[in-house]
Amino acid sequence: MNRVPKILALLSIAAAVASDAYSQPVQLPADWPDWAYGVLSPLEEGDRIAPACPSTARPIDCAYPGRPVPDDGIQRSLPGAAETHTRNQAYANYGPADWYPGDHPPMPAIVANGNEPRGIRACALCHYPNGQGKMENGHVAGLPAEYILQQLAAFAAGTRRSADPRKANTNEMAMIAATMTDAEKQQVAEYYSSTPYRPMVRVIETDEAPAVRATGNGLMLPLEGEPPIPLGNRIIEVPEFPERTEMMRDPRGGFVAYAPVGSLARGEALVTTGASKTVQCSVCHGQDNMGLGPIPGIAGRTASYIMRQLWDMKQGTRASPLMAPVIANLTQDEMLAISAYIASLSP
Ligand code: HEC
Ligand code: HEC
Repeated sequence: MNRVPKILALLSIAAAVASDAYSQPVQLPADWPDWAYGVLSPLEEGDRIAPACPSTARPIDCAYPGRPVPDDGIQRSLPGAAETHTRNQAYANYGPADWYPGDHPPMPAIVANGNEPRGIRACALCHYPNGQGKMENGHVAGLPAEYILQQLAAFAAGTRRSADPRKANTNEMAMIAATMTDAEKQQVAEYYSSTPYRPMVRVIETDEAPAVRATGNGLMLPLEGEPPIPLGNRIIEVPEFPERTEMMRDPRGGFVAYAPVGSLARGEALVTTGASKTVQCSVCHGQDNMGLGPIPGIAGRTASYIMRQLWDMKQGTRASPLMAPVIANLTQDEMLAISAYIASLSP
């Protein structure tokens, strides 16, 4: 990260926090679906939560580069990959590991390396070189180019923000979109729309989930050796191979979503018939919910990503005129069931 913008960002966070009511710790309503934002309430010791972004701040003031992680120096590899990297080489901000170059077309420079002088970290760092992405960011592989351009414009204009002011990587995404040139936006839209998308979630209905820790920006990792925790009315999602995701950023890795018993059947009824509460998703998202024209596919994306979008739209921080009637009458439980079912689809 370029030092000067970082220091300016920190100073302006301090100034903004000192000068308005948001200097209080964030108090979100008790029924807030924290799990969709990668936060488990009540917070456990060791959970790393970004500082809240004051509503008065510009997104760039709230980009939060996370805390440096000491590198253990161990060279690791992934099945079928030719290279080895240490944890921090795999995570290099301006040139993260590209384990499987054969899985995608050649990357534009902004995807592979970002732009350090302008503080744009590589798209491949968060979304991976192949665009599959993770639960805490987004799945950009195979999205329609027109939709990618629309979303970059929405982030830049402030009509797409996270409803949870602690979601620092969404704030960073907004900063990136506001900083990119039009030519770069065109390149990334063409690039990520050309990478093949693969559904990536296994949904398990259960009363219990693995104990997890929150890593700070929305990823959850299982705690080894801990007894399971009651799932309650939420979805807990973790990488299928936690070490590969955490230490190597495995771009082929999928996710496991633990969902309350009965959610798949409830979700299926809502998604496929509308059940007098909503509109059949396939009307706009395509027959198998894999996308239609400029409308993005949703099938097989992580449950937490789906829920976060529905919730952000419901709170009004993500504007979407066409989705407004879809979510208007949905309760949080129904959105949870829909998210579990959509995540489970593997057309
Ligand atoms: C620091 C991590 C980070 C980096 C770097 C990053 N993004 Fe993102 N991006 C995010 C997050 C987080 C979201 C989703 C926010 C949310 O939950 O709504 C996102 C969402 C998106 C979306 C919307 C996806 C959808 O389905 O609506 C697009 C498109 C996107 N990013 C493109 C890019 C491009 C292009 C770059 C590089 C120029 C980039 N991102 C760099 C974190 C990042
Ligand atoms: C009337 C058309 C329409 C219907 C019906 C519809 N959607 Fe959408 N949806 C959209 C559009 C258009 C977008 C892209 C955002 C935008 O431009 O508003 C979108 C975006 C989304 C997103 C965010 C995708 C991303 O990549 O970030 C999710 C999640 C979603 N819809 C879920 C659903 C679900 C679940 C249903 C069914 C219950 C549904 N939609 C029904 C039009 C629709």
